[in-house]
Amino acid sequence: MDALIGWIGGKRLLRKTISQYVPKDIQGYIEPFGGAAWMLLFKDKWGDLEVYNDLDYRLVNLFLQVKYHPDELIKELDFLVASRKLFGDILKQEGLTEIQRAARFMFLITRSFGSKGDSFGTSQKRGTSSMYNRLERIKELHRRLDMVIIENLSYEKVIEKYDTKSNFFYCDPPYMLGYTYENSKQFSHETLRDILKNIKGRFILSYDDNPEVLKLYKGYDIRHVTRTKGINRKEGKSEFNEVIIANFDLVDTDQDTAKTKAKTTKEIRGIS
Ligand SMILES: C[S@@+](CC[C@H](N)C(=O)[O-])C[C@H]1O[C@@H](n2cnc3c(N)ncnc32)[C@H](O)[C@@H]1O
Repeated sequence: MDALIGWIGGKRLLRKTISQYVPKDIQGYIEPFGGAAWMLLFKDKWGDLEVYNDLDYRLVNLFLQVKYHPDELIKELDFLVASRKLFGDILKQEGLTEIQRAARFMFLITRSFGSKGDSFGTSQKRGTSSMYNRLERIKELHRRLDMVIIENLSYEKVIEKYDTKSNFFYCDPPYMLGYTYENSKQFSHETLRDILKNIKGRFILSYDDNPEVLKLYKGYDIRHVTRTKGINRKEGKSEFNEVIIANFDLVDTDQDTAKTKAKTTKEIRGIS
């Protein structure tokens, strides 16, 4: 299924490409940097254990309310019509209950430009997007989350807690040269590398394609992929280069990557 919300850095356009590399023989599937969970939701089930985690409590609260109070969340969202005035009011008042806060967070993200949640977004062509479709998706996500564990920890703790030989981690951290999330101004890419170096399980890591990342992960299996930039699609040629890094051999099984606008361009092992 699709994610409930867009999210900066969300893997909507790369989920098909990345998912082909996820090993089939895993017991647990863990996302330490869950965001909107585009990868987790791409399949009905990845493993006997599934864990969603993010440090951002607004996201975690939304997932928790979908999991435990979907009907109340839907009722709350029913009142939130697409209005610039309401958007401004909600920016000032996040809500009094956890359900209100989840609904208002979802409203801000889905009604804003580029899913940033800070300014009311409209389109000259499409007007506004349907909230009813999203309300249906809440019910679908409610069912999908039935067996998913939802955590609100920093990634190191999640890796430590669930690290076994048979578990798999899909890591999608804040990018080195990308958007700075409020909670990741001090993010250490070296610490993440050190933690992943000693992991018992297998992992796939996605990053922006830059020499610093390639240097940190020299020796790992790396694929270079290109995708169109989400926000600037109408500008045509705008492309963004990313890498997929793994601590096991990546095997290409999916030839049909055109739809995702991402393609495997070359394979290297580290840099020379
Ligand atoms: C690139 S986004 C993940 C996007 C996600 N894969 C998706 O498809 O929507 C990175 C996420 O990492 C989270 N984050 C930042 N620092 C973190 C930390 N120390 N521990 C856990 N999550 C963190 C951010 O809140 C953000 O949601």
